[in-house]
Amino acid sequence: MKSNARELTISILKFNPHNSNSRPTMVDYKIKERPGMSLFLALSTIREKLDHDLAFDFVCRAGICGSCGMLVNGKPQLACKTQTKDYKNGKITLMPMPAFEIIKDLSVDTGKWMNGMSKRVGSWIHTSESTDIGKVERRIDPEVAYDTFELDRCIECGICVASCATKIMRPDFVGAVGLNRVVRFSIDPYDERTDSDFYEVIGDDNGIFGCMSLMGCEDHCPKDIPLQHKIAYMRRKMVDQRNT
Ligand code: SF4
Ligand code: FES
Repeated sequence: MKSNARELTISILKFNPHNSNSRPTMVDYKIKERPGMSLFLALSTIREKLDHDLAFDFVCRAGICGSCGMLVNGKPQLACKTQTKDYKNGKITLMPMPAFEIIKDLSVDTGKWMNGMSKRVGSWIHTSESTDIGKVERRIDPEVAYDTFELDRCIECGICVASCATKIMRPDFVGAVGLNRVVRFSIDPYDERTDSDFYEVIGDDNGIFGCMSLMGCEDHCPKDIPLQHKIAYMRRKMVDQRNT
């Protein structure tokens, strides 16, 4: 029986930086669309039927692990949350996210970058208190707890970094994800760092003063974290520090 499924043309940048003979090349793959097809399914079909060598990252397929960020028709987004039906002409171009080291094809090393950023901003509770698991935890104001949980929803997908023009111009820019992390710990009553301590970490053009408020981070963040609002909040605090 003849299928009415439309044909998708998916163009993918193929490149293996670890092979000296490899050159960046766009390759077109044609597959039949299936109902409810996500880009994860489309890429899995391509790898299964047309190109066993194609590299891309997925773990959860549910927008939770943050592994599958890529440029879809030039826009950074999670491939597992992207439906092929939303591309009316059936043509989709996929490229690896900029600002990260390419591993191969669509696979980039966000983990290495996130690890460096986490160490740089001290992404853990800084406290002089020792932990006693026999003691009941100190209570936190529910509103403050809500605020930290909201910022903790970040899945480290790197999409805000790949969306950021400042990051492209300033390779050492800490990115919205890093600034968001600083805000998260600055409002956490368990963390003993002061604004002056945070100023030492982000009080320059590779930190809070580098952001040009172009909104790319917030526009593309798949978790809708209010990044620009939080960056503005922290910038005001850091300006006060600079003026003291
Ligand atoms: S802030 Fe948003 S876009 Fe940036 S890494 Fe976290 S979830 Fe991804
Ligand atoms: S595969 Fe986990 S977020 Fe897409």
